[in-house]
Amino acid sequence: MQVPFVDLKAQYKSIKTEVNQAISNVLENCNFILGQEVEEFEKNFAKFIGIDYAIGVSNGLDALKIALEVLGIGYKDEVIIPANTFIATALAVSAVGAKPVLVDINTKTYNIDTSLIEDAITAQTKAIMPVHLYGQAADMKAIIDIAKKHNLEIVEDAAQSHGSHYNGFSTGTFGKIGCFSLYPGKNLGAYGDAGIIVTADKNLAAKISRLRNYGQKQKYYHSEKGLNNRLDTLQAAVLNVKLKYLTEWNSKRAYNAKLYSEYLSDLEEVKTPQIALDRDHIFHLYVVRVKEREKLQKFLLEKGITTIIHYPVPIHLQEAYSDLGYQKGAFPITEAFAEEIVSLPMFPELSQEQIQYTCSMIKEFYS
Ligand SMILES: Cc1ncc(COP(=O)(O)O)c(C=O)c1O
Repeated sequence: MQVPFVDLKAQYKSIKTEVNQAISNVLENCNFILGQEVEEFEKNFAKFIGIDYAIGVSNGLDALKIALEVLGIGYKDEVIIPANTFIATALAVSAVGAKPVLVDINTKTYNIDTSLIEDAITAQTKAIMPVHLYGQAADMKAIIDIAKKHNLEIVEDAAQSHGSHYNGFSTGTFGKIGCFSLYPGKNLGAYGDAGIIVTADKNLAAKISRLRNYGQKQKYYHSEKGLNNRLDTLQAAVLNVKLKYLTEWNSKRAYNAKLYSEYLSDLEEVKTPQIALDRDHIFHLYVVRVKEREKLQKFLLEKGITTIIHYPVPIHLQEAYSDLGYQKGAFPITEAFAEEIVSLPMFPELSQEQIQYTCSMIKEFYS
């Protein structure tokens, strides 16, 4: 049996007629830049998340960068981020000229350890950028309390958490600004690069709209030095179709995760994900911690099962961030987990047989 890590073809097959029609409509209209599909998607996504404004952009990294920029964060400022995240979280901070300040993660949700945030705050700190990693919310109550106490902005990196909740509210709606990646493999993914920014603040929304479009108030009248970071109309057309299925797909992922956790529950070599009581988990990734990881991955690959590590090298140990001056040992949990974590195949269309097979092969490896 083959178990791919993700199977975008299976999903395309299930919505092919609708997607092809939506793309064909864009081709017929030739309204390729900021066409009506972009506005429709922005409205639909804002409604889905439960917030007033959503602005489509070119990708998740640009979303984060624009969010920081619009809040006036730049040179000499510091932004607190978790040590365990995709490098784009840090790159967005660097892109506006600010310094990413890392904080270790907690062992339960793998998200930022909120008990360590205050120690990382300095006179330069301007914002906290929590990441809802793998699809489970960070501890937003604690983060909001700290941000209020120290007068800091919150920008949520919700690149992996489309439709996950904390205390009943969608991730992305807690901070001043929330940023989503719509990269093809995400729970809500375009057929190329895409992203979206959400906010409840009308003025910020207007400024973000301008910044993603050359800083234009109206064509050829520029109030800010913006860039070209627009969401493509073709991508918006695809996303409008896919958004209708997101809740169903997220439920299927959660069900698949439940099956994995049940089948693996009797293996002491495998630590399955935990979900905090006040949250749900949309399982963008199903990440376990294991013994003898590299050997296990090789064994599984020989059995037709693909696994990936998210992420093998923590940001502070990446060559690109040697300038931050962190040493090995600076973030012990992140570093220890980076040696043990492995993501098992996860997508809505994954079958029970594929999950059973994957788990039985993991059991065979440890037996
Ligand atoms: C946590 C996180 N932040 C930011 C990004 C950047 O998104 P994009 O790839 O759309 O630029 C990603 C994408 O994988 C991500 O996982």
